[in-house]
Amino acid sequence: MVKICCIGAGYVGGPTMAVIALKCPEIEVAVVDISVPRINAWNSDQLPIFEPGLDEVVKQCRGKNLFFSTDVEKHVSEADIVFVSVNTPTKTCGLGAGKAADLTYWESAARMIADVSKSSKIVVEKSTVPVKTAEAIEKILTHNSKGISFQILSNPEFLAEGTAIINLLNPDRVLIGGRETLKGKEAIQMLEDVYAHWVPKDRIICTNLWSAELSKLAANAFLAQRISSVNAMSALCEATGADITQVSYAVGKDARIGPKFLNASVGFGGSCFQKDILNLVYICECNGLPVVANYWKQVIKLNDYQKTRFVNQVVSSMFNTVADKKITVLGFAFKKDTGDTRESPAIDVCKGLLGDKAQLSIYDPQVSEDQIKRDLSMSKFDWDHPAHLQPPSPIAIEKVRVVRDAYEATKDAHALCILTEWEEFRTLDYKRIYENMQKPAFVFDGRNIVNVKRLRKIGFIVYSIGKPL
Ligand code: NAD
Ligand code: UGA
Repeated sequence: MVKICCIGAGYVGGPTMAVIALKCPEIEVAVVDISVPRINAWNSDQLPIFEPGLDEVVKQCRGKNLFFSTDVEKHVSEADIVFVSVNTPTKTCGLGAGKAADLTYWESAARMIADVSKSSKIVVEKSTVPVKTAEAIEKILTHNSKGISFQILSNPEFLAEGTAIINLLNPDRVLIGGRETLKGKEAIQMLEDVYAHWVPKDRIICTNLWSAELSKLAANAFLAQRISSVNAMSALCEATGADITQVSYAVGKDARIGPKFLNASVGFGGSCFQKDILNLVYICECNGLPVVANYWKQVIKLNDYQKTRFVNQVVSSMFNTVADKKITVLGFAFKKDTGDTRESPAIDVCKGLLGDKAQLSIYDPQVSEDQIKRDLSMSKFDWDHPAHLQPPSPIAIEKVRVVRDAYEATKDAHALCILTEWEEFRTLDYKRIYENMQKPAFVFDGRNIVNVKRLRKIGFIVYSIGKPL
């Protein structure tokens, strides 16, 4: 029986391993983490992450061939294949601060693998890492005097949160990079055999290590670039009277461009786009390619501009002051169908409004009050470094109320800002909301989900990204 161990029971490690266990009943899969609460949650009825379809998969396999444990060393030493899916945040200090990937967690995982291994293993990079990381990892792993060998593979993950299970069950592709040696090819084959349980052969791509590592950064950069491109156009639409929905539709009809990922928004969020592009920028700079670095940097700058533009629009529309006005924020997660708030545009928008002394009333169906308050009192880049977690600042707490219902959140508000595209926000009773709000009542739709005409008819003053005012 092949044994797999995955270090890191997060948004990637948990769902990915659950699907491998589901599709490969003869493989024993252990997911390990240093975080005791996280592992306890994986072993409970309340999983640590909200992901449609995940509960069912975990329930089917847990205790049979899927195990969650904090006994990292035991499971690593017993495994044939070790996936490493730890966090790889942006460095907050030292060389490359604010750009380069912080590989502290990765390096400590690699050192632990080297220390506890008693037999040869395949070590799989599942985390997103800078190109050439495998070389560094190889150095750490092969400097053992035990006479055991390690093959390093790069197998980046392309799932998106909110659709992780669908993506894992039916991936566009699985990418496996390895050394072009006999041993390297054998290792690639072994991992390919795992995925071949459910992924068609023509969707499994095998490359060299560096192509696999770089393809992951490239894919995220291309995806984020599409959003920044459409968001750049949204600003021009507002200035000219064009409508971004119509423009995106017309542009996306070109088969070479395609219709997906062209929704204008208040900005992209999530734990990876910004981090991975900054990482790419840093790699370009280190390789003497400043023009290429600046090209990709612009994707981030445009995203920051879009968030600032949204806040400015709110304040300027409301007679240049939001001081002590109640503003409702609908949605705090970085996208629908997830409770994840990492790098959510809502954080920057709320901070901007708080900076103008607004009173915020926030509702998100999946995000807890604690999480919202923690996010609003943390500095940029600190969110993925547990050691830096600080209690929320009293100023943020004073001006922020988190409520559990959209109607309560909007009562007596001057404005509402829609920052996540939750389905339930499309079907709210906006007439009822309007009646209970201060007048004039404003709606700022950062996700283009409301029917602008209908809301204007009710009496709202509506701003929708990239649409004529
Ligand atoms: P996460 O923070 O949710 O999970 C990482 C886990 O690793 C944490 O639970 C942490 O406690 C654990 N960990 C850290 N160091 C450890 C160690 N030495 N031993 C054991 N456990 C350790 O992160 P995530 O969102 O799952 O992302 C993991 C990686 O996957 C990142 O590199 C990310 O860029 C990449 N990725 C993420 C997504 C996504 O949608 N979130 C998608 C594709 C790729
Ligand atoms: C993204 C990629 O889609 C995954 O392929 C990748 O594996 C993952 O990053 C990763 O490496 O972490 P994710 O961040 O989970 O996945 O979610 P996306 O659906 O890509 O959304 C990212 C952000 O872009 C969200 O804030 C979303 O609202 C925004 N977005 C997306 C738009 O503003 N417009 C769009 O048209 C699409």
